Amino acid sequence: MTETKQGTATLTVDGKTIELPVLGGSVGPAVIDVRKLYAQTGHFTFDPGFTSTAACESDITYIDGDAGQLLYRGYSIDELAEKSHFLEVCYLLLYGELPDEAQMKEFEGHVTNHTMLHEQMTNFYRGFRRDAHPMAIMVGVVGALAAFYHDSTDINDEMQREIASIRMVAKMPTIAAWAYKYSIGQPFVYPRNDLDYAANFMHMCFSVPCEEYKVDPIMARAMDRIMTLHADHEQNASTSTVRLAGSSDANPFACIAAGIACLWGPAHGGANEACLNMLREIGTPDRIPEYIARAKDKNDPFRLMGFGHRVYKNYDPRAKVMQETAREVLELVGVENSPILQVAQELERIALEDPYFVERKLYPNVDFYSGIVLNAMGFPTSMFTAIFAMSRTVGWIGQWKEMISDPNQRIGRPRQLYTGANERAYVDVAKR
Ligand code: SDX
Repeated sequence: MTETKQGTATLTVDGKTIELPVLGGSVGPAVIDVRKLYAQTGHFTFDPGFTSTAACESDITYIDGDAGQLLYRGYSIDELAEKSHFLEVCYLLLYGELPDEAQMKEFEGHVTNHTMLHEQMTNFYRGFRRDAHPMAIMVGVVGALAAFYHDSTDINDEMQREIASIRMVAKMPTIAAWAYKYSIGQPFVYPRNDLDYAANFMHMCFSVPCEEYKVDPIMARAMDRIMTLHADHEQNASTSTVRLAGSSDANPFACIAAGIACLWGPAHGGANEACLNMLREIGTPDRIPEYIARAKDKNDPFRLMGFGHRVYKNYDPRAKVMQETAREVLELVGVENSPILQVAQELERIALEDPYFVERKLYPNVDFYSGIVLNAMGFPTSMFTAIFAMSRTVGWIGQWKEMISDPNQRIGRPRQLYTGANERAYVDVAKR
């Protein structure tokens, strides 16, 4: 889809009036094209946090924050979570259409045949302390892929871009699972070609050489759904990081490593880990009012983790699916009345009635329930964001491919509003 001119915006600044094109896409807000603003007025736009800035044109994911709508290539997240599966969603995000049976079989074959890591990379893990955070390991190991897979780092070669994309989708579960195994001192488990994507990840995490490990199909389906929910999300902070890194023609492995680093922050993908830690700290429903008060207190840096979103000013559609998944998994594990779930549900109920949250349109986001599900599956909190990164890799690489193949792509280089010192002469230290 390409943009269409919808009209013009008139701007008068310093007594000069200019016309700026207004461009429209297929759905969602139109944009005012300010690419010639500086040349015509000597002014920059100013938008820290990019609350009103479209940094690119994209066909991949659409979010309507007011309606609580999320579409991957036009398909709603609710339908995909219910009717599709993660590897089919990967195909959809990467190539723009749902695959037919032959296309799915071929894609699944490519991914299955790239799940192993270069054997020397096991040494790379051993350079880390056992208590290293899995996200620190993921950033290092993914960045190091460029040192092992030189035949897919030339971003100007379409075939190499394709191979790098398949490699990233295929290897992330192995990289994440091995980060977990390394942190608990257990041997690495190799991927198996007879298991589907989610089951393979669960098997690499939880099986041990001493006995056969059977992946519970309900757990595998829940993991698959979690991956689908996290696969892509428009131009969020980590995706924007991947795009900006990619705009310098950096190799795809370096770009994904940059995305992982950004996702780690508790304001972004690290919120699932922070949210479960918060629920544990609250402990019992009677302590919720104390934390609600802290979240509202401007002098207290505490925020309700898993609540609020830059775009969603309605319920995050992913959180609804995740809440349902939480019920299924907790029931399977036999802890459907877990204190953590009770605290989460009571916290949500109270917050959604509190004027502070209602006025600011703060709703549970995807991270509010994901930690509860992953905890019930047996993952430590330190693995939550690594699982988010594993799932989001397809979105990152799809957005990177879209950017790299755009003939108008240029290096991203924002400007600034300078408020520092004017030019001044150097003063010798004896005279300061
Ligand atoms: C993800 O962008 C994406 O798409 C991200 C993501 C993805 O899939 O890629 O969806 C994944 O990152 C989800 C968000 C996970 N983060 C958290 O759950 C951390 C807690 N949430 C917040 O830190 C916050 O809501 C953000 C970072 C998510 C959004 O921040 P914004 O858009 O910059 O909002 P803001 O900080 O300007 O807040 C607006 C107001 C402020 O109060 P006032 O100054 O108006 O009085 O709402 C308040 C904030 O203090 N507020 C909160 C709050 N979130 C916002 N107050 C208490 N608790 C919170 N969680």
